[in-house]
Amino acid sequence: MNKVRFGMIGGGPGAFIGHIHRIAAALDGELTLVCGAFSQNLEKSITTGQQLGIHPERIYANYSEMFERENALPEEERMECVAIVTPNHLHAEIALAALQHGFHVFCEKPATRTVEECEQLQNAVTTSGKLFGLAHTYLGYPMVVEASTRVKQNAIGTVQKVVVEYSQGWLADINFDQDNKQANWRLDPARAGLSCCMGDIGSHAANLSEFICGEKITQVLADLGSVVPGRQLDDDASVFLRYENGARGVLIASQISIGEENNLRIKVYGDKGSLSWQQQEPNTLTIYEGQHAAQVLRAGQGYLSTSALDLCRTPPGHPEGYIEAFANLYRQFALAIKTQREADKASLGSVCGIEDAVHGMKILQAVIDSNAAGNTWQRI
Ligand SMILES: NC(=O)c1ccc[n+]([C@@H]2O[C@H](COP(=O)([O-])OP(=O)(O)OC[C@H]3O[C@@H](n4cnc5c(N)ncnc54)[C@H](O)[C@@H]3O)[C@@H](O)[C@H]2O)c1
Repeated sequence: MNKVRFGMIGGGPGAFIGHIHRIAAALDGELTLVCGAFSQNLEKSITTGQQLGIHPERIYANYSEMFERENALPEEERMECVAIVTPNHLHAEIALAALQHGFHVFCEKPATRTVEECEQLQNAVTTSGKLFGLAHTYLGYPMVVEASTRVKQNAIGTVQKVVVEYSQGWLADINFDQDNKQANWRLDPARAGLSCCMGDIGSHAANLSEFICGEKITQVLADLGSVVPGRQLDDDASVFLRYENGARGVLIASQISIGEENNLRIKVYGDKGSLSWQQQEPNTLTIYEGQHAAQVLRAGQGYLSTSALDLCRTPPGHPEGYIEAFANLYRQFALAIKTQREADKASLGSVCGIEDAVHGMKILQAVIDSNAAGNTWQRI
């Protein structure tokens, strides 16, 4: 009874992230999926809804119908929150409609197509008083939260240099452009928005670096490439960064780096020490403090901060990963919704909110502008 009732837009047959969202949302028993418009095609939406055991009357043809009909249900039955897991171009219109109907929103990134759309969304979030969460998955990893905590505790001193890389190889194959569902819309400006590679994965890298360092990016100088001929959007990006405290950074994002799977890694150098973390080995954080030997910190160990331990489910050595990180976002978002049910002010924990969404879109726009202006520095 106490579970948060959520609905989903997108995540139909063969979809990537909708399926992950559903598993993650179910992991801790804090949420229950009660309805959905899982595809723009009603038959496909029904297929997915039936597989998930959704009541037939709550499998909808589209988001408008879903919001109208859910709104008409008694309060104790009605969906409270919607997860938006469609391609990028639909995020803003669905989120706006959801807020207008009084639903909280948990949205995939990048939040919108443009900065303007995102600012409009920000106004709607503020006016509605509803919660907005953005699915920056990597902030759900315990060792990322530990890294951020240690930086806040001054373990490495003042951050001076950041090297963040997010390399994949799956878009090196030109045949994917038409044949692969996920590639197809990511390379189409009408559906992906400003960017392919920077929006899809560079956005995670920038966000991760800001979260760990506790510093916002204020300037960028970018060189974007459409390495595979004929593409309208970037499949490779190199970006110099400046953070608000003056620290310098380098961001590499690439989807044409053959052999790379999901290689997100970060190194942060302070004036007293440094740390490093990588997503393909997520339960380890390496930290160098002053003249001490390197420490290898591990997920689940009692020496971690409470905020990191709260995100661990298993004892040390029992690996947790991507699904659990996503589940941590869902759990924190669900707890915020429950807090708001009691009319208390809710914290989203390590889940990004609407301000982060707007800031992320500003970084993306600045990267595009920098590249278009012949690789010049652009202020955020
Ligand atoms: N946070 C992450 O780590 C992460 C990872 C992958 C993708 N994403 C984001 O998730 C979103 C979806 O990406 P994906 O790879 O799952 O795409 P996908 O193509 O695999 O799935 C998109 C789904 O949306 C459905 N859809 C499209 N239009 C719709 C409509 N009008 N109504 C209802 N459903 C509709 C499609 O039928 C499909 O089922 C994107 O914004 C992407 O950037 C985030």
